[in-house]
Amino acid sequence: MPNLMAPTPSRKACPWMYVCICRAVTENEVHDCIAAGATSAKQIRDTTGAGGDCARCVRKICAILKRSEELTTA
Ligand code: FES
Repeated sequence: MPNLMAPTPSRKACPWMYVCICRAVTENEVHDCIAAGATSAKQIRDTTGAGGDCARCVRKICAILKRSEELTTA
């Protein structure tokens, strides 16, 4: 079964893609947060604001966190 959460070429080509529309937070900003030590969606919300409104982006943020964790432990 393909990993639907894996980065696709189009995602790699669009690092400015918005993860959180409400707060205009990009995928790059989330990755920067993780690189700075964030390990939870709450920490990312506290830093960027992503997830602080409708929270529809929280699942995506959790998927990015999980993927990042998998890459660092692999
Ligand atoms: S899309 Fe992130 S809070 Fe609404």
